[in-house]
Order: sequence, then structure tokens, then C-alpha cells
Amino acid sequence: MMGRPKITVVGAGNVGGTTAQRLAEKDIYDVVLVDITEGMPQGKALDISQAGPVCGYSTRVVGTNGYDETAGSSVAVITSGIPRKPGMSRDELLSTNAKIVKSVVSQLVARSPDIILILVTNPLDAMVHVARLVSGLPKSRIIGMGGILDSARMRAFIAAELNVPGPDVQAMVLGGHGDTMVPLPRYTTVKGKPVSDLMSKDQLDAIIQRTRDGGAEIVGLLKTGSAFYAPSASAVDMVEAIYHDEKRVLPCSVLCEGEYGLKNVIVGVPVKIGRSGVEQIVEYELTVNERAALEASANAVRELCAAVDRLMA
Ligand code: NAI
Ligand code: 2OP
Repeated sequence: MMGRPKITVVGAGNVGGTTAQRLAEKDIYDVVLVDITEGMPQGKALDISQAGPVCGYSTRVVGTNGYDETAGSSVAVITSGIPRKPGMSRDELLSTNAKIVKSVVSQLVARSPDIILILVTNPLDAMVHVARLVSGLPKSRIIGMGGILDSARMRAFIAAELNVPGPDVQAMVLGGHGDTMVPLPRYTTVKGKPVSDLMSKDQLDAIIQRTRDGGAEIVGLLKTGSAFYAPSASAVDMVEAIYHDEKRVLPCSVLCEGEYGLKNVIVGVPVKIGRSGVEQIVEYELTVNERAALEASANAVRELCAAVDRLMA
């Protein structure tokens, strides 16, 4: 009998712990939770397992400080690294997190050569670049989570403003997962209706700005960490799209090689996700201004990736 697919979550902190919990609740995976802090992933794994009889799942959750248990993973969600403190940008995390992601990726790939990597650690697009440099995996198997979260924030703000259910709102935020992200109101709809027909330009502009600042808003409120409920939900959405071979189009951070006129840069674009990872970059028709905004965002990511190259030289 075929076993359950193994999903490894690296980093058992706020995002990683919640990701492991959400995966366990699906009751279709085996989950391995890895962290450098002794006892912590083991403790969280036990705790999540002990919720199973109450919540009705029997997922095996293993916590570890090593990588042997990760062997044969189908997918890894990488959340290891430091989060932002109030006033910090995602980019200030670069050198610490690049070293962490480098070591994590090489240990994962050595034991699971067929793995698909979902990067969460910030600065997100630059960490996808680190994973590309270190792993030797094809670009279809290295995917960054940023756009689903940014789009979810925009969807939630629109839902609250219009007093409609969040799932009825569709939105697309492209670009790097940072201050230059590119929300696309033209591709934002409520039950198929263009959002611009449902609210004023001022209302929409305010929502776009709040979306851009969405991560910082939560860092400012929490003071000791950054968002993790919506981020973990977004990462699990990607795992599900892979496992169920959904071919759903989701905004994710991937290497572009000519799509949208972007050459050799990692940035958030709509991608079709299925069993083999990124199956296609889907090219939406963009206006001149939207294209320019995406290009500017890609250039900001290029600068960070150049900093990664200097660090890793
Ligand atoms: P956290 O501090 O709660 O957890 C991070 C965990 O990583 C800690 O438990 C730490 O011990 C562990 N860790 C550090 N070095 C490690 C290593 N070498 N191997 C294994 N584990 C290691 O932080 P949180 O809130 O979970 O955030 C994690 C990362 O995800 C941050 O960089 C944050 O900025 C990023 N993030 C990205 C989002 C996105 O949309 N892409 C959304 C939310 C967070
Ligand atoms: C966020 O957007 C910190 O990137 C993380 O919440």
C-alpha cells in the first residue's frame, strides 16, 4: 500500500508550527517538523499529534533537529530564519536568512532529490534565488510564497469594505513580496464583477496601500513577530495545489525567463501549480503602467539577488 506523502516543514516557529498544524488537519500527509532549537519541534509535533483524537485526524507528525527523518519528502515548506521587528524591512533580514536557507536547502535536497521546495523565509524572492543557487533543482520545483498572502490581504480588505464573504473576492497581486508589490485592480473581482464597479477609486486606492503595508501593519501590532496565520494558510494552499494536481493559477515567486518581458529574475507572477510544481507561467495581458510597475518590482528583486550573489561568492 502506498503511504501518505511526506511534507517537511523547516522552522517550527510561528509560521512553521502553524503550517504543520494546518497540514496535520488535512489528514492526508505525514508531516516532519524541523528546527534547530532542541526539543521545540519535538514538543510541537507531539502537541499537534495529541490534537488528532479531538479534531478527528490521525496524521503522523515527527519533530526533529536533524534531516534523516525528512528523507523521501515530496514537498518542503521552508520557514526557517528570523522574522521582522517593528520598523525593519523584509530586506534587512537578507544576510542572516540567506545563510540559514542555504544550509537548510542543501540538507533537504541531499535526502530528497525529487523534492519541491516552497520558500517562505524573507526576503522571499531573494531566498528563492538562494534555493536555486544551492539546490540544482529545476526552476519548476522552487516556488516562493508571497503573492497568495498579499492577494489574500487584498481580498480580506475588499470583503470587509463591501461586507461580502472573503472567498467571493478574487484578487491578483504580482511582483516581489515587498514594498514594490503590484496589486492588479483590473484583475480583482467580486463574484465575477470588477471591483472598480463596486467601490470608489479612493476606497480602492486605500485598500491597495493597506495591502502593500499589510505585513508591516501586523508587525506593528504584534511587536514581537510577524504574521503567521494567513502566511501558513497560503503555504498550505500551495502544498494542496501540488498534492491534488489542481492546476490552479496562483501568484507565486518563480524564475521568469522572458515571460512578461522579464529576463532571468525571480518575481511573483501567476503560475499554474500541479503535481510537478510550476507547470506554466500564465501571461495576463497587462497595461503599459502595470508592466512598468512589474518591471520596477523585478529590478528591486534583482538588487537583492545581486547582494545574495556577493554574500555567497
Ligand atoms: P519564527 O522566529 O517564529 O520562526 C523561525 C524559526 O526558524 C525559529 O523557530 C528558529 O529556531 C528556526 N530556525 C532558525 N535557523 C534555523 C535553521 N538553520 N534550521 C532550522 N530552523 C531554524 O519566525 P516566523 O514568524 O515563523 O517567520 C519565519 C520566516 O518567514 C521569517 O523570515 C519571516 O519574515 C518569513 N515570513 C514570510 C512570509 C511570506 O509571505 N513569504 C510571511 C510570514 C513570514
Ligand atoms: C508578511 O507579509 C512578514 O512577509 C511577511 O507578513
